[in-house]
Amino acid sequence: MTKVSPSILSADFANLERDCKMVMDKGADMLHIDVMDGVFVPNISIGIPVVKSLRKKSDAFFDVHLMIIKPHLYAEQFCKAGADLVSFHIESESDVQETIDIIKNCGKKAGIVIKPATPAEAVFPYLDQLDLVLVMSVEPGFGGQSFMESALPKLKAISEEAAKRGLSDLYIEVDGGINETTGRQCAQAGANLLVAGSYVFGAQDVAAAIESLKI
Ligand code: DX5
Ligand code: ZN
Repeated sequence: MTKVSPSILSADFANLERDCKMVMDKGADMLHIDVMDGVFVPNISIGIPVVKSLRKKSDAFFDVHLMIIKPHLYAEQFCKAGADLVSFHIESESDVQETIDIIKNCGKKAGIVIKPATPAEAVFPYLDQLDLVLVMSVEPGFGGQSFMESALPKLKAISEEAAKRGLSDLYIEVDGGINETTGRQCAQAGANLLVAGSYVFGAQDVAAAIESLKI
């Protein structure tokens, strides 16, 4: 069954503790924490101090998505602040292997993220070392955008490659425009971890929305 990682970008930042607890109580498997630096993406969200503060209030698994230009400079700080998994963009300016090593040396899980224009094959050289591949199904930077179907063949290519290599524990995550319909398409294409921000936090019945993504 797919797992669900609600993006707290759509939470009420003045009530983050409350909203994080709420989605976990209503069936979320983990929390997706979007970090934006205003350079790699044209938006600024939250950073290390917020992760550190949230860690004191939550036992949830923190799935931290770095949308920053030089992730190797900050990955260790995010690990120490309480991230359980740190993913970073292959399109960033950091050396990919060095950044994976930094995260792994902290004893945390590591993931690579690809933007809509980046082919699935870009992650293949690193696949055996990774805990997660995140396929963006929108241009990173903002919640509430429409799902791009171009993510589907990429999810399929990654899941087939992972199966070929026997990587049964690899998280194949998709992020952007996920709802019941697009979530199902992604699950059919091979995703096993669905990020959803506006769909979950905007739902009348949050538990039902999360349940609808467990496919
Ligand atoms: C976009 C972020 C997403 C975003 C998803 O840059 O990485 O995690 O919050 O939001 P929805 O689910 O509303 O598209
Ligand atoms: Zn994200």
